[in-house]
Amino acid sequence: MASIDIGIDLGTATVLVYLGNKGIVLKEPSVVALNMNTNEILSVGEEAYRMIGRTPNYIRAIRPLEDGVISDYDTTEQMIKYFLKKVTGGAILRPRVSVCVPSGITEVESNAVIDAAVAAGARKVYLIEEPVAAAIGAGIDITRPNGVLIVDVGGGTCDIAMLSLSGIVSKTSIKVAGNRFDEAVIRHIRNNHNILIGERTAEMIKQEIGNVFVADQRVTTVIKGRNLVNGLPQKLEISQADIYEPLNELAMQIVHSIQQVLERTPPELVGDVYNNGVLMTGGGSLIRGLPELITQQLHIRASIAENPIECVAIGTGKSFSFIGELQDGFVGITGQSRNH
Ligand SMILES: Nc1ncnc2c1ncn2[C@@H]1O[C@H](COP(=O)(O)OP(=O)(O)OP(=O)(O)O)[C@@H](O)[C@H]1O
Ligand SMILES: [Mg+2]
Repeated sequence: MASIDIGIDLGTATVLVYLGNKGIVLKEPSVVALNMNTNEILSVGEEAYRMIGRTPNYIRAIRPLEDGVISDYDTTEQMIKYFLKKVTGGAILRPRVSVCVPSGITEVESNAVIDAAVAAGARKVYLIEEPVAAAIGAGIDITRPNGVLIVDVGGGTCDIAMLSLSGIVSKTSIKVAGNRFDEAVIRHIRNNHNILIGERTAEMIKQEIGNVFVADQRVTTVIKGRNLVNGLPQKLEISQADIYEPLNELAMQIVHSIQQVLERTPPELVGDVYNNGVLMTGGGSLIRGLPELITQQLHIRASIAENPIECVAIGTGKSFSFIGELQDGFVGITGQSRNH
């Protein structure tokens, strides 16, 4: 049996797995469906995602990672085990595993991730912070003395970090990311149209017509939900302008956090950001208008990485080449590795 290195991007919305010799081999929603009577796992990933909002009482489709951190330890462990088994077929002997975590993670949460990976069969576990993984995945040479500003907008967290010389110079992590945009759409449609929609519909609306920079009346979509007054199903046409305000408000929170990180960054590195711009990664960065809004508000160029959704997983998988630096105190990798 072979031993190999595995990188896991343990995201709130999606889990991606990178196998040392193959690249990304798995990309599935971080959802687990549980039988509430027996506590048994019914399905994981894609299949469980299709059950969201459509389950009978005794089944619950849950996201074990809330806001980018582990909120349900047992289920997360089961999920990691399931995905590792799926990609290795049980044929890889005790792999070294690198797991990407949000940069605001606490020690207790870090330990929970390490324990889950060890319980799932890992021989050694390394934790890498999301912006560092994102930068490696985007092909940036993070060892140079040249400031790089990374903004990773995921489903649960937005991680903003100023990197230079393999380390994080200043950073912040806020819980304003893709899910919050979906919730804002649900709330807005309920309050303004008396229609209740599910989270999958909200995500679809966001992706189809959401824009945080432009509010065009002519860009519309038809949604279906439940009328809260008479309880009946109802169709409604909504426009980009309709949902612009709540989305823009959240995007402005991201802009302010970037500004705060810049304020805490030494002037030489801020100068680098003016030259290099901001690099955005994560699925949440794909909401329309976000780079334009950042550029307008902060007067710095913002661009989206070539492969924003997979970038963190690629960087996590490639992070093993930095382990030498990790042992010399590579700042970007938080957790101690644990032998087991
Ligand atoms: N085209 C798109 N437009 C807008 N949002 C998008 C688009 N594609 C994906 N998203 C959003 O990206 C988010 C998921 O991004 P990603 O997969 O990077 O998150 P994650 O890594 O699982 O989360 P986190 O890093 O916070 O733990 C979801 O909220 C999804 O709705
Ligand atoms: Mg992520």
